[in-house]
Amino acid sequence: AKDPVRVLVTGAAGQIGYALVPMIARGVMLGPDQPVILHMLDIPPAAESLNGVKMELVDAAFPLLKGVVATTDVVEACTGVNVAVMVGGFPRKEGMERKDVMSKNVSIYKSQASALEKHAAANCKVLVVANPANTNALILKEYAPSIPEKNISALTRLDHNRALGQISERLNIQVSDVKNVIIWGNHSSTQYPDVNHATVITPAGEKPVRELVADDSWLNGEFISTVQQRGAAIIKARKLSSALSAASAACDHIRNWVLGTPEGTFVSMGVYSDGSYNVPAGLIYSFPVTCANGEWKIVQGLSIDEFSRKKLDLTAEELSEEKSLAYSCLS
Ligand code: NAI
Repeated sequence: AKDPVRVLVTGAAGQIGYALVPMIARGVMLGPDQPVILHMLDIPPAAESLNGVKMELVDAAFPLLKGVVATTDVVEACTGVNVAVMVGGFPRKEGMERKDVMSKNVSIYKSQASALEKHAAANCKVLVVANPANTNALILKEYAPSIPEKNISALTRLDHNRALGQISERLNIQVSDVKNVIIWGNHSSTQYPDVNHATVITPAGEKPVRELVADDSWLNGEFISTVQQRGAAIIKARKLSSALSAASAACDHIRNWVLGTPEGTFVSMGVYSDGSYNVPAGLIYSFPVTCANGEWKIVQGLSIDEFSRKKLDLTAEELSEEKSLAYSCLS
């Protein structure tokens, strides 16, 4: 039998946490033959509720779940973890300035970075979900200098999956037959959902999405804004933000990272820019990636037309601005 993998979920008493921990315990994240030990962190006001989640995990009698650590102590939470999913953060409340929210999250991610650096297992993979996800991941990277930058990522897989979903609904086909959409940039409304390299498996072979949809005005307009605004549409409908889809996307992100992407398929991950596609180096930016042997690689050589170029630059500008704001909170 395999040794259990320790998976940390921060903010585990929250909405996404409640959807995510049972998925992890069922093997959705790391595979149906991989035992896991869950580490759940939240803050003291949520301690009782966190303990309730732990009770339910016991009650669910998951065969793969070999242990649960539920704690408000960040060191205990981080000790020995192989995978860290950072969902905890400070939400923007009505009337709060952007800088105040940033400042709260910068201080959370700074201290959690140090705890992970000191206490996590070597080669721990980190996924930041909490918003502003890209910039929180960047702060985490800065304050955990001994964690290699290839091990730190931000979640844009939800946006990626939303794009797949929109194409599948439009063409009335299975979502599993659509692949290679790309989310470029920030997990925010400036992200660029790009279908220029996306394809569909049809009985007559693989066809470009652009050819099958055959409506550039929809693809360049409503499709993009629907994906960009989907988070807000879910809040409007549910009066709560996306949780089951966010949890599912976090599992997809880690599963592909650890176990690999299928041949010929790429996915979107927020990763540290090396300057690929003329995206400024040193931002956490969502790129198309393939994964093998536990490592991601940015897909190279895709053609970028003028329409796309502007959108890649716009979301990079927003990220540079967020980065400056975050740094101004540090001083
Ligand atoms: P929530 O408010 O239900 O849960 C957040 C939890 O984090 C709470 O239990 C809170 O007590 C905890 N928390 C706060 N500060 C903490 C700290 N310092 N350490 C540990 N835990 C802490 O929020 P929800 O809906 O679960 O969303 C979580 C985050 O994920 C939000 O920032 C949200 O904006 C973001 N999000 C990101 C998505 C993405 O695609 N990247 C998609 C959906 C949500």
